[in-house]
Amino acid sequence: MKVVMDLATTLKSQAVPTDIREVGINPDYWYPLDWSTQLKPGQVKPAAVWQQSLALYRDESGVAHVLEDRCPHRGVELHRGKVQGNYLACAYHGWTFDGTDGHCEGIPYLSADQKLPCASVRSYPVRERYGLIWVFPGDPSLADQCPLPHVAEYDSDEWLMVPITAEFAAHFSICNENAMDVFHGFLHEELQGWFDPTLLELKATDSSVFAKYNVSYKGHLAKFLGLCERADEVTTLPISIHYRYPHYASSLEGVSSVYLMRLPVDLDKSRSFALFFFKLNLPKWLIRLLHPLLSAVVQRFMLRKFLDQDIEMMESEQRKYSSDPDRRFVEINPAIIALQRVIVRQYEQFVQQSKQSSDIPSLSRQASVSRSPASLSAASLPETETETMV
Ligand code: FES
Ligand SMILES: [Fe+2]
Repeated sequence: MKVVMDLATTLKSQAVPTDIREVGINPDYWYPLDWSTQLKPGQVKPAAVWQQSLALYRDESGVAHVLEDRCPHRGVELHRGKVQGNYLACAYHGWTFDGTDGHCEGIPYLSADQKLPCASVRSYPVRERYGLIWVFPGDPSLADQCPLPHVAEYDSDEWLMVPITAEFAAHFSICNENAMDVFHGFLHEELQGWFDPTLLELKATDSSVFAKYNVSYKGHLAKFLGLCERADEVTTLPISIHYRYPHYASSLEGVSSVYLMRLPVDLDKSRSFALFFFKLNLPKWLIRLLHPLLSAVVQRFMLRKFLDQDIEMMESEQRKYSSDPDRRFVEINPAIIALQRVIVRQYEQFVQQSKQSSDIPSLSRQASVSRSPASLSAASLPETETETMV
């Protein structure tokens, strides 16, 4: 049973541990690699999840596969190869690999009566759901017991869905803090974002943070999105943000929901696949009819503008961190501190488990943290007021 901690919501000054910007991921979760529509049958392309280079291909029967992007023959990148039936052929000498388990299935210049060498490439568990291709970069034996995030709105026609992809030249902790940080409405003032946020509730477990804020809206955009009845009146609504490591779900109940599926790529590189859902005040048939147009308009004239402002801040934060990693900063939102603890704990948990199990492929045991993991101890993070178990 998970222990849920009820945390104080008081805004109080706390130092941000800069080591949070060096922490690795817990790979024993599903991570999104790409949109399903971006990979046609017979196509192969490069992909990456936390310092692991991958070759992503869809076989000719339509099944997506992920292999380590390194041929076991001479090390050439497999994403340079080509799909042959269900297999991926390396571009150099044409050795073919089976995407389901990575074994070498054939060598074109070896006669049929000769034995194939014992050569295989690492293959990864793959799923396709919510229009995304997911990979499990950790211990493959844990993949089946690890659920994908649940997106209830995806299969309902009551919602207008707007997908959007983002690239950040920033560590994933910076990106995640941006999504948890409702107090940055100031940044989006000119876009008629939200204002007057208040943190009402904060809970955390070892793998999640739940925060509930009150926020106010006003203006024509808010009216269009069904956030308020009249553009000239202020409406205050509760917004719930649920970070379930390593992804986000947030909702303005009955009005809109956002799912941020995160892909940490490297110490200063992250990607995000977002699914926005809006309940518009329009008949369902009209939403269905106008879906492609509405989706494109909302993405281009609204979400992209908010996102660009966020990206500018996140990348600036990363640049300043990289130029002086020892510089300390101050945070007053306990939700951010709670989030940092989860990110650190998840990584530590993974490091701990890896030490105990020797049969997990070493590539996923990221030796990528340039500082001692001990210095990232969750226990060393500043305390957030009183914690009580509920
Ligand atoms: S390097 Fe891949 S087949 Fe030779
Ligand atoms: Fe923002």
